[in-house]
Amino acid sequence: AVPVLAIDGPSASGKGTVAARVARALGWHYLDSGSLYRLTALAGLRAGLALDDEPALAAIAAALPASFEDGRVWLDGTDVTDEIRSEACSAGASRVAALPAVRAALLDRQRDYRAAPGLVAEGRDMGSVVFPDAPLKVFLTATAEARASRRHKQLMEKGMAANMESLLDDLRERDARDAARSVAPLRRLPDAVLLDTTDMDVEQAVSFVLERAPV
Ligand code: CDP
Repeated sequence: AVPVLAIDGPSASGKGTVAARVARALGWHYLDSGSLYRLTALAGLRAGLALDDEPALAAIAAALPASFEDGRVWLDGTDVTDEIRSEACSAGASRVAALPAVRAALLDRQRDYRAAPGLVAEGRDMGSVVFPDAPLKVFLTATAEARASRRHKQLMEKGMAANMESLLDDLRERDARDAARSVAPLRRLPDAVLLDTTDMDVEQAVSFVLERAPV
């Protein structure tokens, strides 16, 4: 089988940056599964749906007119790379992600990314649900304080207003919702290697994963 390297973890843990770098270093395909939930939320909002309308959102997820090119994300021919990172889409993604029919509708689309020579897949349930046979599973995390301060730095670099207290509150709220939901709750499985990046920089985290890569 084509090898999969599954990287799961909470919000703002840096798993996106690490996963993309690992994929580039190995020359493997890369799946940012969170963007599919973000796109479903955006398409749902555009269609005027309530974000708990499970059947309608599952239909949207199943037929998502999305494409990924050179680090940009497109929905129905428009570049939505920045829009899907907005607060509305972040909160919306975590709401639609709690709907079992939406998760089921996105399952095959995620599995289609598995292609030679290999796939680095990043999200919440890559190792537990989508690619349970992945030869390497990493649970990448950091303390809530470290994650909030990374997000703070990112926002400041973009010239956007940011408040540590409210970032920390948002993170804790999203962590709680991701961990408490009935489908694919976020947790570290016993077969996942723990990577705590609280006191690590990106290079160190990338090296940690590459040293264990199933190649
Ligand atoms: O980068 P960040 O962790 O903030 O977000 P993301 O990875 O883009 O995921 C956005 C939301 O989608 C999360 O809050 C999760 O609720 C959900 N998600 C999920 O349920 N399962 C996945 N495999 C990926 C994301």
